[in-house]
Amino acid sequence: MSLLTILEYPDPRLRTKATPLVAADFTAALQQQIDDMFETMYEAPGIGLAATQVDFHKQLIVIDVSEEKNQPWVLINPELTPLEPTCELMQEGCLSVPEYTADIERYLRIKVTSLDRHGNPQEFECEGLLAHCVQHECDHLKGIVFVDYLSRLKQERLRKKYLKLQKA
Ligand code: NI
Repeated sequence: MSLLTILEYPDPRLRTKATPLVAADFTAALQQQIDDMFETMYEAPGIGLAATQVDFHKQLIVIDVSEEKNQPWVLINPELTPLEPTCELMQEGCLSVPEYTADIERYLRIKVTSLDRHGNPQEFECEGLLAHCVQHECDHLKGIVFVDYLSRLKQERLRKKYLKLQKA
């Protein structure tokens, strides 16, 4: 296994829209990519990582919100449906925006349909932290970073701050 490089905001590659995986994509190389993404996420440490963040533009997400880091969950070609209109604010961070957090509003309860790492269909209902995490990671696959929900002024400040940090 090997650690992958995580793209950092405002890298334009984070704006790439990921394409769905097809049957022919389920190769040994894909299994390696998934293992490398888990290793990279655990090492960071983080609770979720979208393929977009490691410059791999397929609809693939790895998540583990457990304290013991023993509940790895792979989502391929995920689709979300809110189970109720209720939203909640929760503090979010992102491995692509180091050392920054903001309160973001997301659906409280969602249904997630996707494929697992071997291409088998799976369907889950989730809420709270896991629901926030899934929505955050699915945004990455669409080229959306959580800071996009902040005011333009805050976004401009962050963009300048991170560009300066990356030059240093
Ligand atoms: Ni993120």
